[in-house]
Amino acid sequence: YPIQKIAIVGSGSWGTALARIAALNAAEKKASFIFQIFSGFDHEVRMWVREREIPGQGLLTEVINSTHENHRYLPDVSLPHNLVAVPDLVEVVKGATLIVLVVPHQFLTPVLDELSKPGVLAPGARAISAIKGVEVAGDEIYTFPWLIEKKLGIPCSALGGANIAMEVAQSEFCETTIGVPSSDDAALWHAVFDSPMFRVHPIEDVAGVSLSGALKNVVALAAGFVDGMGYGGNTKAAILRIGLLEMAAFTKEFFPSSSSLTFSHHSAGVADLITTSFGGRNRKCAEAFIKSGKSFAQLEHELLKGQKLQGVVTAEEIYKFLQARGRTEGYPLFTKVYKISFEGMDPKTLFDDL
Ligand code: NAD
Ligand code: 13P
Repeated sequence: YPIQKIAIVGSGSWGTALARIAALNAAEKKASFIFQIFSGFDHEVRMWVREREIPGQGLLTEVINSTHENHRYLPDVSLPHNLVAVPDLVEVVKGATLIVLVVPHQFLTPVLDELSKPGVLAPGARAISAIKGVEVAGDEIYTFPWLIEKKLGIPCSALGGANIAMEVAQSEFCETTIGVPSSDDAALWHAVFDSPMFRVHPIEDVAGVSLSGALKNVVALAAGFVDGMGYGGNTKAAILRIGLLEMAAFTKEFFPSSSSLTFSHHSAGVADLITTSFGGRNRKCAEAFIKSGKSFAQLEHELLKGQKLQGVVTAEEIYKFLQARGRTEGYPLFTKVYKISFEGMDPKTLFDDL
């Protein structure tokens, strides 16, 4: 492989945290780790930023590039100087061989439309999706790596794990899982992201990693409901156990080639479910939903400061898919989360018939 060039498509809290790690690794080159298959990274890592005016400060990209900090989505974290914020998506991926897709899942379609235009992607490019969500169309369900592969015609891996963005950005020790379609993808993406405090474990289950990241957000809403109703650790642990079983069963039923070990053994499974259900945004908003009676849209606006809530959209998508397949009764927890969130069902019914 020639010198690899990394592009980060997305600059929210997780996008910026991943960009920071990739840029630090690119600056170190890291070629010696996998000298047999590639010869190092291009020093500059570009990150796509949706341009906006920051009152009193100027354009967001200019602020990020002059202060080396993303004040809006990852405040008080220094970013490496070789990480460059760029407002034009086509410019970001120009010449890039390793493309990290990390926009909130509801905004991916226009990004893929732009990237799929002729001549935009470099020959031999690969992608990885760090997006936690799914795409549902009637009785069909697609993972994002699958959609990205189809739409862009390039191999796509999945990255997911117990990774609250701010904790990762502050270099607190954690792990992540990458689901890869080939050993070359494993080696390259490992080189992009692995570092002493962010340990990367490649596995062959792309669909399992991607689905786990989406489904755990639905279970994290249930965990937030439990907190909102004032129950303790026993109840939350029971909900997480039942939720984990539904996550694994769903994946086995609709993506039979994926592995149940992804859920039980890897950071993308049980570990991500735990951290999100204790420290994540989905949990936080679900607790406030019960306590305040406000809508999720209002709570997202009030509590997340421009960050995006993924689990509520996913709960609706999963419910609609299960309904279309006539399988809601097989997934009582997912179904209850939808009905409490969207149909005004009494949260106390969460425990009925589980
Ligand atoms: P975020 O929740 O911080 O959202 C902010 C981002 O959304 C910004 O880049 C903003 O420009 C963009 N955005 C807002 N409105 C938009 C629009 N109309 N069109 C396009 N973009 C728009 O983003 P994030 O935390 O980086 O999340 C990206 C993905 O990473 C999600 O799927 C999330 O589940 C996943 N993830 C997040 C975390 C975390 O701790 N934040 C950890 C792991 C995975
Ligand atoms: P939230 O979106 O609930 O904050 O979850 C973040 C996450 O995916 C941690 O791995």
